[in-house]
Amino acid sequence: EESISVSNLSQLMGVKASDLIRKLMQAGKMATINQLIDADTAAFLASEFGYTVEKKGFEVEEYIPEVEEDEAKLVTRPPVVTVMGHVDHGKTSLLDAIRQADVAAGEAGGITQHIGAYSVQTSKGPITFLDTPGHEAFTAMRQRGAQVTDLVVLVVAADDGVMPQTIESIKQAKAAKVTILVAINKIDKPGATPERVMQQLNEYELVPEQWGGTTIMLPVSARTKQGIPELLEYIALQAEVLELKANPEKLAKGVVIEAKLEKGRGPVATVLVQEGTLRTGDALVTGAEYGRVRAMMNERGEQVKAVSPGYPVEVLGLSGVPTAGDEFDVVEDEKAAKEVAEHRAEKARQKELGSVKKATLEDLFAKA
Ligand code: GTP
Ligand code: MG
Repeated sequence: EESISVSNLSQLMGVKASDLIRKLMQAGKMATINQLIDADTAAFLASEFGYTVEKKGFEVEEYIPEVEEDEAKLVTRPPVVTVMGHVDHGKTSLLDAIRQADVAAGEAGGITQHIGAYSVQTSKGPITFLDTPGHEAFTAMRQRGAQVTDLVVLVVAADDGVMPQTIESIKQAKAAKVTILVAINKIDKPGATPERVMQQLNEYELVPEQWGGTTIMLPVSARTKQGIPELLEYIALQAEVLELKANPEKLAKGVVIEAKLEKGRGPVATVLVQEGTLRTGDALVTGAEYGRVRAMMNERGEQVKAVSPGYPVEVLGLSGVPTAGDEFDVVEDEKAAKEVAEHRAEKARQKELGSVKKATLEDLFAKA
């Protein structure tokens, strides 16, 4: 609620505060000089003294307009597939096998601690994969992964079976209303029992097609690459069913997948473009950070100039490290980006002040 004190208004108008108070009294309102009055009352007083009041609120929509979707401009975009599951069940290895690269070998202790984002060219077209960590400490990352995705590939190791983060992943995918495709991994291992995994998953309402259910469950091995062409085939099929489309011809929008501060590069954000085309030079705002896109890198470290919907990219040039999970918007120019970011920072500050005040009041009551 906007308000102004009687004394401030009197200074602005060049009218004595006592005259304003008298006017208020005539209108049946009691006020003191330091009292805050609302915008309507201020407008009433101003008009009584021959002024008009302009309300200058901040409208984010002015900078980030809601535009109606132009159906004619929608084109097919790649599916976004999040790989989830319990720690060490082979998510990163499976992605490596798909990408024919070896990221898992280069990770600290072989444990994924961030979300990797990769666009992979398959014989069925491009697919965007998000690799999430399976360690129990990374619930929030898995949740973000489930929320931005079209499909979840749930990786369950055939020798280990359903484990706590398998169950957590199922819950997150269901909460996000995303179809789950199960990859029963490590079937090359001597102790592998895929049927037992299928049995266990029944408990979580995932029933395989071969047993009359609706969930696709594929035996795979990241090591021998058995089942991987089939996995890609099913992902492509599922994507076709979903008819994923986006308009590349507008200012880009998307979500921050992860962000960090890198020595020599500054704030680096991995973003997923969801609508429009992101270009170098674009003015971008995300949360309370903003900036001009200085450079963009794909998952192979190659510079790119434009990124279409459904693709991930690393962005350089932001004012600070944005919050993973936040949306980003491209706006008209850097000035607009800065204004939106500063407005949000100010609002966050006020909210924090508010909660501090509340906390002290509550403390007082608690002590009384
Ligand atoms: P987090 O990211 O920490 O959750 O682990 P992850 O699920 O990404 O597992 P990762 O790919 O790092 O693999 C864990 C271990 O399992 C590694 O030693 C892999 O070599 C091994 N592994 C992965 N897939 C297979 C497979 O298909 N067969 C066999 N035999 N081993 C595998
Ligand atoms: Mg991993």
